[in-house]
Amino acid sequence: MQPRKNGLASGHLHFLLEDEPYRILGGSMHYFRVPVAYWRDRMRKMKACGINTLTTYVPWNLHEPRKGKFDFTKILDISEFLAVASEIGLWVIVRPGPYICSEWDLGGLPSWLLRDKNMKLRTTYKGFAEATEAYFDELIPKLAKYQYTRGGPIIAFQVENEYGSYAKDANYMEFIKNALVSRGIVELLVTSDNKDGLSYGSLEGVLATVNFQKIEPVLFSYLNALQGNKPVMVMEYWTGWFDYWGGDHHVLDADAMMSTISEVLNRGASINLYMFHGGTNFGFMSGALHFHEYQSDVTSYDYDAPLTESGDYTSKYFKIRELFGAYNGNPLPPVPELTLKTSYGTVQLKRCLPLWDVLHLVGQPFKSVEPVNMENLPVNGGNGQSYGYTLYETIIFGGGKFHTKGNVRDRAQVFVSSHPLGTVDYKNEELQIPEVPAYRKLSILVENCGRVNYGPMIDYQRKGIVGEVYLRDAPLRNFKIYSLEMNTTFIHSLNDVHWSELGEWKTGPVFYQGALHAGDSPMDTFIRMKGWKKGVVFINGYNLGRYWDIGPQDTLYLPGPWLWPGVNEITILEEYEAGQTVYTLDTPIFGKTQYVD
Ligand code: GLA
Repeated sequence: MQPRKNGLASGHLHFLLEDEPYRILGGSMHYFRVPVAYWRDRMRKMKACGINTLTTYVPWNLHEPRKGKFDFTKILDISEFLAVASEIGLWVIVRPGPYICSEWDLGGLPSWLLRDKNMKLRTTYKGFAEATEAYFDELIPKLAKYQYTRGGPIIAFQVENEYGSYAKDANYMEFIKNALVSRGIVELLVTSDNKDGLSYGSLEGVLATVNFQKIEPVLFSYLNALQGNKPVMVMEYWTGWFDYWGGDHHVLDADAMMSTISEVLNRGASINLYMFHGGTNFGFMSGALHFHEYQSDVTSYDYDAPLTESGDYTSKYFKIRELFGAYNGNPLPPVPELTLKTSYGTVQLKRCLPLWDVLHLVGQPFKSVEPVNMENLPVNGGNGQSYGYTLYETIIFGGGKFHTKGNVRDRAQVFVSSHPLGTVDYKNEELQIPEVPAYRKLSILVENCGRVNYGPMIDYQRKGIVGEVYLRDAPLRNFKIYSLEMNTTFIHSLNDVHWSELGEWKTGPVFYQGALHAGDSPMDTFIRMKGWKKGVVFINGYNLGRYWDIGPQDTLYLPGPWLWPGVNEITILEEYEAGQTVYTLDTPIFGKTQYVD
């Protein structure tokens, strides 16, 4: 290990590293969005593109899924990730939050925070501050070890994320800064803000950086006025954009991207490409936006970034390589080989199992006179339910107008005696229940489609049924509530139940299962649910994410390292109507494209 004395500093017009001028040519890649087996591959591709610094967020909600229960294993092993970066020769900027935005459920905050009905996220409110301290007690020492001056790759830390766009508590940023420093963080601290937040997000003694897609010269002059002779850094230059269900696949023209990057560099600034490699929002982790309407993000986080979701090169990659190559003193390493993709043909589904037949697998339902939101359900050792579906059942007499009054988050299928009546969501809050003079079971299967990760609506992200729902204008009462998280243990437990041979294709929420034969050395593939409506795909019990025929995303990325040689179990939860076949392709389909301006 080289002796390290002077880490990244911002005392002058440019950064200094060991007192030598240093320009950050950065790229974002989030370990929690990339299979562990590919970390090294993606980092080598970064290095070969002339990237010298890797930037990552840290998702609190994955690291502390239950209060006080921490997970830093497998895809969450950030120490290993840092060790690999160090070995490849990339410096690292860590953005530990606690809030990270990033199109990630609740901007990375754990949903158990919402059990406190007075919770004030991203403030010094006692409940939030104490939870943050407890989390940082676990996280920060792990990161501190990998700091530059202790021989590790981390050259800087970001304090929170775009707080200027939220700015609810004048003491909060200082609190987060101290939470880092008091736990041994000594490297350079930065804040990062977009143009709306820049004037509120900065912090005394901390370098302010900016985020944008289009150069706005005013931002540079603002930064200059704010901190004079300091280096300018674009912490997030958006190389593409994310997609939401029902929208188009966003792409940013490669030449437009190059001209902005060149201009940033010509101005002498440092840059981080967000994203360099986006990866995937596996499971139920994608976030949402809710300004004029609620929009939940798709499973892929391809982002139209220089490396695709599955780590393939794009024209952007080679254009950046040419430009960054010129800035690197030494010749760049050769471009690593491609990771192979394949089609395994069609997957034959063999058996099916209605959701109604497996409710007992989640134990006794919780009984409550009034509806209870998912975060406040008495499950998971007092942590509530975080993700997935929640089923609310009650007995009704007769029919009439069923109305949600906006209390269903985010959408629900409604059934009477297991017969589907339709779907309610933010736009359709009402359904007619046919009049039958009898007692019948009303089932409301609510899906949490992802919590908002940015904007003021982040303060209203409890899911499930969050208030009263009505029949004939009277609030419904006496619920049985099933928490259906669809976690791996649950998907494995489906094998203990009797499945039917697949004769007729069923409707309604039904599981389907089949085998994917991956041969001797499994490769990446893309699952196409053509002809299916909406649901979730699991491979060997592991949640690959949602599919939905409203697009734009048309295939789900299935990484080769998650397949066993030979037979793999594929399980599908389809909410409405099954298609005939599941296809596997050797190329992804991200859907109809739209250029971002
Ligand atoms: C902001 C956030 C990021 C991400 C981008 C959009 O800049 O800081 O986390 O949400 O917007 O992709």
